[in-house]
Amino acid sequence: MYNIVTYPDPVLRTRADEILEIDDELHEIIEEMTETMYVKDGVGLAANQIGLTKRLIIVDAGEGLMVLINPVLTVPEDARADSMDEGCLSLPDIRVDVTRPDRVHLTALDPDNKSIDLIADGLLARVLQHETDHLNGKMIIDHISSITRRLLRTKLRKLEKSHTEAS
Ligand code: NI
Repeated sequence: MYNIVTYPDPVLRTRADEILEIDDELHEIIEEMTETMYVKDGVGLAANQIGLTKRLIIVDAGEGLMVLINPVLTVPEDARADSMDEGCLSLPDIRVDVTRPDRVHLTALDPDNKSIDLIADGLLARVLQHETDHLNGKMIIDHISSITRRLLRTKLRKLEKSHTEAS
């Protein structure tokens, strides 16, 4: 099982690289990531969160496991803004209200190199956006207002301090 990388580790701020080859090594990573996500009770996990800068996310928003390689999201015209409280395994004890489109169009590859092309809505749309953000070095604290960020400052400082002590 992998350790989850937490804020403010720089890997969480790094844009992950396109995956060019789906090989045995990648399948092993996917297996370990899946186990890690379920053990940690997460609904999604991005490769950055285990310290790998590869465009790979796994998601289970209650509709079964989805393994997505090189995911690309676009927002359909009929999408509406929707707000919900989000947490992140890389930001322990922090929850913030994040506004996102309620529908997304997803294209990706699955572990068998087959194309995935679908419209997601509800919780799945939200988790897909959260995890794809990670691949672009973005986290939920980037979505919030400066006022909310000020309110979270103590918690973020605490994480920054424990990270410095650990490394
Ligand atoms: Ni997260």
